[in-house]
Amino acid sequence: MKNFLPKQYLKDKNFKIRHNYLSEQFKDYDVIFKKIKKVIKFNDFTLGKNVDLFEREIKKLMKPKYVISVGSGTDAIMLSLKCLGIKEGDEVITTPYTFYATIGAIVTIGAKPVFVDVNEDYNIDPDKIKKKITKKTKAILPVHWSGRICDMKEINKIAKKYKIKVVEDACHAILASSKGKIAGNFGDLGCFSLHPLKNLNVWGDGGFILTNKKKYYKKLMLLRNHGLISRNVNKIFGYNSRLDTIQATVALHLLKKIKNITNRRIKNSLLIDKSLKDIQQITIKKRFNHLKEVFHLYEFRVRNKNERKSLLNYLLKNGIDAKIHYPIPMHLQPASKKYGYSRGDFPVCESITNTTISLPVHEFITKSQISFMTKKIKEFFNAN
Ligand SMILES: Cc1ncc(COP(=O)(O)O)c(C=O)c1O
Repeated sequence: MKNFLPKQYLKDKNFKIRHNYLSEQFKDYDVIFKKIKKVIKFNDFTLGKNVDLFEREIKKLMKPKYVISVGSGTDAIMLSLKCLGIKEGDEVITTPYTFYATIGAIVTIGAKPVFVDVNEDYNIDPDKIKKKITKKTKAILPVHWSGRICDMKEINKIAKKYKIKVVEDACHAILASSKGKIAGNFGDLGCFSLHPLKNLNVWGDGGFILTNKKKYYKKLMLLRNHGLISRNVNKIFGYNSRLDTIQATVALHLLKKIKNITNRRIKNSLLIDKSLKDIQQITIKKRFNHLKEVFHLYEFRVRNKNERKSLLNYLLKNGIDAKIHYPIPMHLQPASKKYGYSRGDFPVCESITNTTISLPVHEFITKSQISFMTKKIKEFFNAN
């Protein structure tokens, strides 16, 4: 098996308008190197001072009672489920419209993912959850897709009624909010990723968990570090999933810019909305005043798969790194075969996977790049 990523990165570099903006984002790497030098001088590599500082800064910013940094967003979800005591044979209700990691985290702790279709906003449909609850259901795992918070009021209501837990996959949703309440604070636990292409990112992998419950905080602090309560005493068996001090140093550096990053993404997305809203062949999401979406992705939909293919090719040909996030839903992935789902089981999700396109929307996208992208889309539809 080959590592496919470097080749993909080389291809992506050729686009005029790119999804990948990391070299621009870390132009000031000399400043970060200086900070990393200090980590090296102090031999402060694991659970160092900057890890603690990062957790405290996140707490101030996102307002939970507790923050636990971990090795990745995937680990954040996996450890959260583990912390809730979810184990082999248990069922976790989630969405088929997500990145592989959400499901991988459920499966690696031995539990079974049970899918529920999404709404037109790409998020899990709470009205369809109840039907899927069984005696084995232990948690609901909603994903705040592309940085738009799910209907947490309804989801929490169901969880309370059936006495099950809620873990938010908020990996796309740093600083997203609903009626002013910040993502990660709605469920029992909220999981975030610091993957290089997330809104807040590091030079490799990283993640963190928010919780407002002390018992979960205490357990997660153990789980992420072998279950150690001291150098020589092992209270429970756990994992090695610490946020590296070097990555915490990078994250702290970028954290100062996160509000600006978020605002730029929102501004860019709303500008795209404005330009696309009158193209009748295109569907954009309805926006709501009570929801602050942070646009990890900017997505819109066209009328069918063929149209998507042609438009995607047209955009790529014009130097725009348009992408599909994602073309195959989780229930139709080869890895899900054993769960027995078939095409047609989740019609809304399947229709979105067939028709969605994402445009680059990060903080370095300029107004003129937005005009160019939207002009090309209009051109495509006028010509068809
Ligand atoms: C929705 C979602 N959940 C979980 C993850 C996993 O995060 P990580 O890559 O940090 O493990 C990702 C992305 O990578 C994601 O997009």
